[in-house]
Amino acid sequence: MIFPKELPVQIKALRGTRDILPEECLRWQWLEGAARAIFRTYAYDEIRMPLLEDLAVFTRAVGETTEIVQKQMYTFRDRGDRDVCLRPEATASVVRAYLENGLTAAGRQKLYYLGPMFRAERPQAGRQRQFHQVGVENIGPSSPYVDAEVILLACRFLEALGIQGYRVLLSTLGEAGERSHVAARLREHLEPGLDRLSETTRATAEQNIFRLLDSKDPDARELTRSCPGVIEFLSEQSRTRFESVRKILDQNGVRYEVDPYLVRGLDYYSHTVFEITHSALGAQDALGAGGRYDGLIAQLGGPETEAVGFAMGVERLFLAAEAETSLTDAGRFLVFVVAADESAVPKAFEWVQALRSDGIPADWDCTGKNLKAQMKQANRRNASWVLILGERELSGNSLTVKDMATGEQESMDADRILGWAKAQFADE
Ligand code: HAM
Repeated sequence: MIFPKELPVQIKALRGTRDILPEECLRWQWLEGAARAIFRTYAYDEIRMPLLEDLAVFTRAVGETTEIVQKQMYTFRDRGDRDVCLRPEATASVVRAYLENGLTAAGRQKLYYLGPMFRAERPQAGRQRQFHQVGVENIGPSSPYVDAEVILLACRFLEALGIQGYRVLLSTLGEAGERSHVAARLREHLEPGLDRLSETTRATAEQNIFRLLDSKDPDARELTRSCPGVIEFLSEQSRTRFESVRKILDQNGVRYEVDPYLVRGLDYYSHTVFEITHSALGAQDALGAGGRYDGLIAQLGGPETEAVGFAMGVERLFLAAEAETSLTDAGRFLVFVVAADESAVPKAFEWVQALRSDGIPADWDCTGKNLKAQMKQANRRNASWVLILGERELSGNSLTVKDMATGEQESMDADRILGWAKAQFADE
């Protein structure tokens, strides 16, 4: 290994990656809490997989000809000469973990995950190289009810975050076995117009005709919109299944639009596919996406097992939530204990510990600063309340309580303090 002789003046986070600073982490905790709560109510259990995986997990699952595998994976050979990569998505990892750990024995598995994913894309608003997803995978018996329930869950999750202005785009790709037939029919329709397209777009169409349907190239768009779209070419059985999913969504008040040109950038899908968009996101308008992947488990060496799921981009969820509501920084509550003079320091320390023992976020300044400097510190830390302890308070067995929002202060008996602080914390 070659180490640079001199370090750059300032080492920076890599392009497309960023730090999530303490202020922001409060929001992340809130979002993660909301995700956990709602996934629990739909009876999903959490799973955590490694970020580093065998490269084959994704080449086999996501597809050799997909953009993710061809251009976006962080891949390297490790010290043991194994080809490994940073996971670009989690569905394939969940399936690998499901098979490896014998979770197949339990039959149905309803799993959720939260965490970073890595794709070497050109960074822009809403697109990063390290980004985060929250997602669910419902592995087990297939039924249109399961597809509908997964979409319903995605919508309920968005609403729990205060996001209302989303659009659900829905389609079906039919059975995996129909793929080549549908590809041939698409080709029949599109072939005569292919020579009007750029060389790169033609090459995409050559590799995978489905990919042409969601091309951003305006000429390709014009051409594909003259073609009926995937649903028209599917078997009666696949279309009936799709109708069942739609009916359940309709009966349960889920708003969606059928988009027969919706194809996904990952190869493992069959039957239901969906994407959820939001106008606040600009060019990268997908908040999340998912669908059914009935062939994937067998493809990774497991028994024939059906599954459906979705993943949302956390950074994009924040962009959408911020556009619709003003996110409050929940979880900021802090009681700051101030010693007005040196004699009060040991007691102040005791109070901080007592508050914490009762589960109340509390802190103090241990550097022996004067009262004014400690108050300044409390301010800087955005403390909700300050408890002041000085000679007068020590002799009167009381504390002075200052509300940092209003500036009002009052004296309170020491034995009332913990009960009062707990009530304030519960109310925040
Ligand atoms: P995906 O469409 O590749 O699907 O990604 C899901 C979501 O992750 C996107 O809609 C977007 O919000 C977010 N995302 C993707 N790439 C980036 C990026 N570079 N920067 C920021 N956000 C990004 C999947 O990953 C499938 N595993 C979803 C799934 C689960 N299908 C079935 N189960």
